[in-house]
Amino acid sequence: MSINKNRRATVGALAAAGLAVLPLPLLAQGRKLKIGLMLPYTGTFAQLGEAITNGFKLHVAETGGKLGGMDVEYVTVDDESAPPKAVENMNRLVRRDNVDVVVGTVHSGVALAMANVARQTNTTLIVPNAGAGDITGSLCAPNIFRTSFTNWQPGYGMGKVMVDRKIKSAVTLTWKYAAGEEAVNGFKEAFVAGGGKIIKDMSLPFPNVEFQPFLTEIASLKPEAVFVFFAGAGAAKFVKDYMAAGLKSIALYGSGFLTDGVAEAIGDVGQGLVTVLHYGDGINNPKNIAFRTRYATTYKQQPDVYAVQGYDAAQLLAAGLTAVKGDLSKKAEFHKAMSTAKIDSPRGPFTLSKAHNPIQDMYIRQLKGRDNVVIGVAVKGLADPALGCKA
Ligand code: BEZ
Repeated sequence: MSINKNRRATVGALAAAGLAVLPLPLLAQGRKLKIGLMLPYTGTFAQLGEAITNGFKLHVAETGGKLGGMDVEYVTVDDESAPPKAVENMNRLVRRDNVDVVVGTVHSGVALAMANVARQTNTTLIVPNAGAGDITGSLCAPNIFRTSFTNWQPGYGMGKVMVDRKIKSAVTLTWKYAAGEEAVNGFKEAFVAGGGKIIKDMSLPFPNVEFQPFLTEIASLKPEAVFVFFAGAGAAKFVKDYMAAGLKSIALYGSGFLTDGVAEAIGDVGQGLVTVLHYGDGINNPKNIAFRTRYATTYKQQPDVYAVQGYDAAQLLAAGLTAVKGDLSKKAEFHKAMSTAKIDSPRGPFTLSKAHNPIQDMYIRQLKGRDNVVIGVAVKGLADPALGCKA
C-alpha cells in the first residue's frame, strides 16, 4: 500500500474512533509544497514582478527543482500593484488555494494588506520587495519576513552621501504612497541632520508619470540637488524627462530603484547618475558572479536588485524547510529557522533583524554603461529602526 493510501486508512480508523489526527510532514505525505506568488505582472511594476519570479525560480532550479528537498508547485496571481484588490487576492491564495507560503509583493500598499491577512491567518509571508516600514514595524510577526529592504534604508543612505558631497539644499519628488513618503523621510532624516535644507517636498499620485509641471517648478526653485523615489517604468520615464527638461546641472539623486532594472530603458542620458541601494551590478563576490552568470544564461538578460530579492526569498524559504525536514506542522520551528538563517546573497551575506528585515550594507552606485557600478559604501550593516515592532 502507498504511504498516502496507508495514511487514509489510518486516518479513517482514528476518525471513526473519534481521535484527532496530526498532519504528517509534507515530505512523508509525498505532496508538493504550494507557493503563492502574488506579484505584479502588468502595469508600471510588471518587469519587477517578472525579475522576482525569475530569481526565485532560479534558486529552485539550482536545487534540482526542489526547495528544502520538496517538490514545489506555484499558484500565481497578478496583483496589478492595486491596493484595493489586495485583500481579495491574498484571501484567495490563503483560503481557497490553501497555499503553504505566500511570496509577494512589490508595491508597499498591496504588501501592507497582505501582511494584515498573513497575521490573521498565521500564513508564512515572504516579502521580496515592498519596503513599507510597518511590515517589519507595527505589523511585525513571527510568520512575516522580508528579503529586500525598508524604504527608509536607501533613502537614509542617500541622505548621508549627499551630506558628504557637501550639498546644502534639495527638493524632493515622489509618488505619494508609503514607499515614496518613507524613502523621502529616510533621506530627510540624514540630510537635515547633516545641515541640509529642504526647499520643497513635491509628490504626484502613483502611478502617474506627468512629470512636466514638477520639472518646471524645480527649474524655478533652483535647488543644488533633487532627491526622488521612482521605480520601474515610471523611473525610466522620469530620468528621460528630467534630462530632456535641461535640468542636468541640478544634481539628481535617489533610492537606487531610480536606475535599477531600467538602465536599458533610460539609455545614455542617465550616465553618471549616483544612487544608493543594497545591491550593485559589479559586486565582486563568488556568489554574485555565479548568480549573474546563471541568471544571464537562463533568462538571456542581466539580473537586477529585484531578481536578487526573489532569489533570496527562495534561499530563506529553503533554510526554514530544511530545518523542519518539510514538516510544516512545526510552524514555530520553521519560522525560527528562517529568522536565524544567514543568507549567502549575491548582495553579500546578510542576517535578519529581530523584526525580520535584512541588516545590510547600503552601496553607493554610479550608472556606467548599463551597469549600476558600486563606487563605495554609504552605510555598513544598516538595520531599520523597526519602529512599533513588539518582537
Ligand atoms: C514599494 O512600493 O515599496 C516599492 C516599489 C518599487 C520599488 C521599491 C519599493
